[in-house]
Amino acid sequence: MKIITIATQKGGAGKTTLATNLATASAKAGHLTLIIDADSQKTALDWFNKRDNQENPLVIAAENQEKLQNLLNLAEQKGIERIFIDTQGAAAELVNFAMLKADFSLLPCSAGGFDVGAQRTTAAALLQLKKQGAFVITKATTRGQELAETRAILHGLGLPISEHKTTFLKAYKDAAVFNSSVIELEPNGKAAAEITKLFEWLEIKLKKNPLLDQLQQG
Ligand SMILES: Nc1ncnc2c1ncn2[C@@H]1O[C@H](COP(=O)(O)OP(=O)(O)OP(=O)(O)O)[C@@H](O)[C@H]1O
Ligand SMILES: [Mg+2]
Repeated sequence: MKIITIATQKGGAGKTTLATNLATASAKAGHLTLIIDADSQKTALDWFNKRDNQENPLVIAAENQEKLQNLLNLAEQKGIERIFIDTQGAAAELVNFAMLKADFSLLPCSAGGFDVGAQRTTAAALLQLKKQGAFVITKATTRGQELAETRAILHGLGLPISEHKTTFLKAYKDAAVFNSSVIELEPNGKAAAEITKLFEWLEIKLKKNPLLDQLQQG
């Protein structure tokens, strides 16, 4: 079982969008997949409750550490293969606990409304836990300079940046509105291709021994 936590203190950066879409990619790849909604807004749970497909991925909420730990134990027993933990847009004990439990954390950072302070806090928390993770740039536009600036600032925060990003596409919003995912809604679209690439990159990260990164970083 592999656990992926999606966290950033910055609200609206694309956490739930990544959680629902990557979990759908994971299900499509044949993994029994669970989203744990650890955000009190319960956006992912709402998404699930209105879906036709409630087979895979599954979604369940965890309001506190005890519930989250119990769910992780149960999921392991039940043969769940991938868990995506969606977290709230705030610095909170539960978010840190979710990052501690994760094999890999994704920190979405929107290319537009950039907020270094919020990114720095989440990245610092992950580094302090000595856990693996990376930034994922979301909602990138065709303005190349904006992307370059975002990358430059993130580079200083001590975490790798995924070479895969999401661009600003209507398909992501439509998928949310229809309680779907970009892969289900537009399987041959650009957003589906982005999510598939990001998921494949994540799978490679999950298979890698974390020691290698530490050795490479000197
Ligand atoms: N690549 C994208 N292109 C266009 N819209 C996007 C993209 N990614 C996310 N969005 C939209 O941005 C909004 C915020 O995304 P989302 O809800 O995933 O953020 P969040 O980090 O989970 O927010 P919160 O902190 O409130 O939980 C949503 O309306 C979503 O549809
Ligand atoms: Mg959310």
